[in-house]
Amino acid sequence: MMKFDASHGLLKEEIASYQDTVTKLHKEIREKTGTGNDFMGWVSWPVDYDKEEFERIIKCAERVKDKAEVLVVCGIGGSYLGARAAIEMIQGLYPDGKTEVVYCGNTFSSTYMSQVLDHIKDKSVVLNVVSKSGTTTETALAFRILREFMEEKYGKEEAASRIIATTDKARGALKTLADQEGYETFVIPDDIGGRFSVITPVGLVPMAICGIDIRKVYEGLVDAYNDLNTDDLSKNPAYQYAVARRIMQNQGYNVEMFVTYEPQMQMLAEWWKQLLGESEGKDGKGILPDSACFSTDLHSLGQFIQEGKKVLFETILEVEKPSADLTVGSDEANLDNMNYLTGKSYDWVNKMAEKGTIEAHVETGGVPNFVITIDDMKEYSFGYLCYFFFVATALTCYMIDINPFNQPGVEIYKKNMFRLLGKPGYEK
Ligand code: PA5
Repeated sequence: MMKFDASHGLLKEEIASYQDTVTKLHKEIREKTGTGNDFMGWVSWPVDYDKEEFERIIKCAERVKDKAEVLVVCGIGGSYLGARAAIEMIQGLYPDGKTEVVYCGNTFSSTYMSQVLDHIKDKSVVLNVVSKSGTTTETALAFRILREFMEEKYGKEEAASRIIATTDKARGALKTLADQEGYETFVIPDDIGGRFSVITPVGLVPMAICGIDIRKVYEGLVDAYNDLNTDDLSKNPAYQYAVARRIMQNQGYNVEMFVTYEPQMQMLAEWWKQLLGESEGKDGKGILPDSACFSTDLHSLGQFIQEGKKVLFETILEVEKPSADLTVGSDEANLDNMNYLTGKSYDWVNKMAEKGTIEAHVETGGVPNFVITIDDMKEYSFGYLCYFFFVATALTCYMIDINPFNQPGVEIYKKNMFRLLGKPGYEK
């Protein structure tokens, strides 16, 4: 289903030479015995998920979809990036006749929040608040404002039927509030961290409300769960990718640029950045995840990639079949000199740009390139690639003795911020 091509990787070591290491670590991943195993619920989630809840998500989406001219998703980090990555990848950036999605609770910007309120005030709104802890400041603050907005607009009872809470099954401020107000709730499993949670109600609820077929997402997920359950490096593209990253770092590359040629996958790149960055960037180790969208960024970052300091390698996520295509027409006057492309497909042009860029960056620029290929930007492919990147992340972190499933570093700014905000208990 997914292919990994290392032929432009300028690798100085054989991927296959890591077979013994991979065999050992594969066992730790699949048997959930590796470091951080209290957060490895995602490993078997494609088959262990709560089936009753899954059906309830579909029913809930049916119940609210006619009311959801706009769906507001209120969450941050792992509680929002996956849903946005999925919705934009699958539906595109301007999906006609679909629910509009607005994202809140992911910033402290008063300008942004005010503009959102203005934008949704005369529209029919459904709100999905997503927070495992229920205490994340960005999300809680935005939700306080949105809840007030909903209650003013619809009255308490109707507002409650339009608010859906995705949170911890038993604990936390959001769970208590949801129970008290009678919101429909969905569970974020205890043993799945934010950046792995797109395959749980965290991602599935917004996807389903937008009309995405979450059963198909699961077909891809389950196939990846089965296909990638092999320690045989020659047969496991996710592990090949994980090993290639480590070889890159051995060769002195400390930045990985995730490249897509599809604007609707830029949020997927953001999701990928969180997955790799938060999992691997610890103990002074890790590769900095960066991203670019080509050919757009070839007109900006392209110069650095081609001729700047040799700090980075590129990982291209290539899509075989675009969601739509166009044919270039002919023009008698040909003032733009584009007639040489008459009859060609737009996507073919995109693919040729990719081919020429790989050649320029690798052969002329000496920048290693890897290519991951997926069939299309549909539900199945999204589910498949989630699991692909999950197992690749686990292996690549274990290879440098990192616990991929915690994020101790993200707490430090919060303590300082709480002190400055005057939060009780955080005085100097
Ligand atoms: O991956 C993570 O743990 C974070 O990105 C969290 O998902 C994010 O901080 C949101 O946390 P919560 O769901 O508790 O509001």
